[in-house]
Amino acid sequence: MTGQMQRIPELDYALEDGWTLPAGWYSDERVLVLECERIFARAWHYAGPLEWVADPGCFFAAQVSHVPMAVVRGADGALRAFVNVCRHRGHLVVAGAGCRSTLQCPYHAWTYDLDGSLRKAPRSEREPGFDPDGLSLLPVSVGTWGPFVFVNPDPEAAPLEHALGELPAIVAESGLDVDTLRFHSHHEWPIASNWKVALENYLECYHCPTAHPGFSKLIDVSPDNYLLRVHETFSSQIGPVRPSVLAGNGKAAAYTPHGPVEQSQYHFVFPATTMNIAPGIANVSLERWVADGPKQTVETTDYYFGPDSSPDEIAELMAWDNQVGEEDVSLVESVQRGLDSGAVPQGRLMRESEQLIADFQRRVHDALLA
Ligand code: FES
Ligand SMILES: [Fe+2]
Repeated sequence: MTGQMQRIPELDYALEDGWTLPAGWYSDERVLVLECERIFARAWHYAGPLEWVADPGCFFAAQVSHVPMAVVRGADGALRAFVNVCRHRGHLVVAGAGCRSTLQCPYHAWTYDLDGSLRKAPRSEREPGFDPDGLSLLPVSVGTWGPFVFVNPDPEAAPLEHALGELPAIVAESGLDVDTLRFHSHHEWPIASNWKVALENYLECYHCPTAHPGFSKLIDVSPDNYLLRVHETFSSQIGPVRPSVLAGNGKAAAYTPHGPVEQSQYHFVFPATTMNIAPGIANVSLERWVADGPKQTVETTDYYFGPDSSPDEIAELMAWDNQVGEEDVSLVESVQRGLDSGAVPQGRLMRESEQLIADFQRRVHDALLA
């Protein structure tokens, strides 16, 4: 790994002077290998809904960067998470979500207890010295916030609360009680771009006036009113609803927000979890951005809504959100093509409007090169 690191060049122009990470960092397999080892493997990631693992024996599988994970509710009621890779020859042990009394690998039927220990391996009695005690599923860290499950591939990770910092308090102060939310639906969006291109697009609304007309009719995206904040472990964008929409004059807006949430919020928990809250009804969409190769990302989104939300309210909010999502995919795939050309080795950030990108790139840079 050291050899690979040495081959990643230092920057020609410094991040502190407003320059971006080098274009080559967005397509280089060696960079992604380092990112997996130094960033993703040590971080908390949103995994899925707690209600999927409410009862003993219930589980769900979640791909977290390069590591397949399984979240499992034990017979003893404890919530655990494991690397979802069989200790025999590597088949994924569980897929999707469900409830079982054991976890059985579908390849050769090695069977694990819900606590990850290997209970049975066919023909192991014919195998001298076979020691099931050393062949448990590999444990990882798991934590919860309200109805959301997070995992960290590092079994020795500091608790989730450290990574979330003041985020739960900020969300609660905004009028949203996350404990009232119920899982609604799961979506996966493949994007032909490096994971950093996709997240950098998420981290600024400088593009909103030009690229998201529907979004910008509802949200005030002017730099004086759309707030950007870098916190110690996360960053936030807070966008107020245009007063004309609230006054009933915003006819062109996709919907008129009614409900407990007054402002749109977009929170980013480094390195690859985002939390979107739209104005109006009680709602959250939580996303995990999975690098599926240097130039491919899967944006995995779970929508949650409050129990009082009507199907029509949910549908109009999701239509508005999906419109923005489609516009964003087109933007980031274009950026990837531009970066791949190598014609512009380092871009120039707008240091006010793109300060969350600067913070993100600093963290990536320091993790890879410090
Ligand atoms: S790989 Fe799982 S039982 Fe063989
Ligand atoms: Fe966007």
